[in-house]
Amino acid sequence: MTLPKLALDTEILGNTKVGDDVYALTVHGGALIDLAKPGQFIHLQIPAENVFLRRPFGIADTDEGKLTMYYRVTGKGTRALTGLQHGDTVNCLGPLGNGFSLSSKRPLLVGGGMGLAPLLLLAKSFQGEADVLMGGRNQAELFWKDIFAPYAHEIFITTDDGSLGVRGFTTELLPDLLGKRKYDCIYTCGPEIMMRGIAKIAAQHDIPCQVSLEKRMACGLGACLSCVCDTANGERKKICKDGPVFWAQDVFFEK
Ligand SMILES: Cc1cc2nc3c(=O)[nH]c(=O)nc-3n(C[C@H](O)[C@H](O)[C@H](O)COP(=O)(O)OP(=O)(O)OC[C@H]3O[C@@H](n4cnc5c(N)ncnc54)[C@H](O)[C@@H]3O)c2cc1C
Ligand code: FES
Repeated sequence: MTLPKLALDTEILGNTKVGDDVYALTVHGGALIDLAKPGQFIHLQIPAENVFLRRPFGIADTDEGKLTMYYRVTGKGTRALTGLQHGDTVNCLGPLGNGFSLSSKRPLLVGGGMGLAPLLLLAKSFQGEADVLMGGRNQAELFWKDIFAPYAHEIFITTDDGSLGVRGFTTELLPDLLGKRKYDCIYTCGPEIMMRGIAKIAAQHDIPCQVSLEKRMACGLGACLSCVCDTANGERKKICKDGPVFWAQDVFFEK
């Protein structure tokens, strides 16, 4: 199914540092707001020399006409993005991709690092019903806790160094959590190794699991084939158009 999308010049309303190397970019969302669904992304044209291709960022919030994305500075595009200010213009192509299936009544959201960004809009859409298990390297990386707090039912935290929550990975806390609470779907976004671990535990507990995949993208529209992935039935899928959200068993399988 082809979903409606727009390429809009949008005014920047805020570009604020919220963590080590992480910024919240808020733009005037215009018509994008009504179209955006949790799990979809914006392909952003960053107005800077030598940044020709658009860069994809998950839609984290759509509130009162404002659309927010969170980005970590990883290279030249995101570094250039930090220099933009209130009143500057960026072109947003979106909303792109297929988002999460929202049928769950008792959802658990599991996010690692920047993977928490798209899970924020998902948590909001569940209107306080979703539990969130979040993991990061240390306390500083989990500034997300305060951002999620108004929208989550309960928040569970792991850090690699034990500076906040339980020491270890989300995959270590998950079996414990599943032993104590009933969930009918797990939604996960973050490093692939984490999502694979989460999906495996979900399968062992017979809980459906949706994963949001990442790959370098060029067109973002399904035309260039730079983002294809293999699926269990042998079909090759485009992460930008058929995903980025997939059912775990379709994309994480033994080859
Ligand atoms: C669907 C989707 C949603 C995303 N959402 C977010 C988000 O909400 N917040 C966020 O911070 N990042 C997100 N990313 C990753 C983000 O797009 C890249 O970090 C960004 O494009 C890097 O641009 P750059 O010019 O700064 O880095 P570059 O100079 O292009 O590359 C720097 C480094 O980042 C790696 N990289 C570049 N693009 C990607 C990519 N698409 N996926 C993984 N690694 C990449 C490169 O391999 C390289 O190591 C998302 C990616 C996808 C595919
Ligand atoms: S980025 Fe071009 S097909 Fe996905």
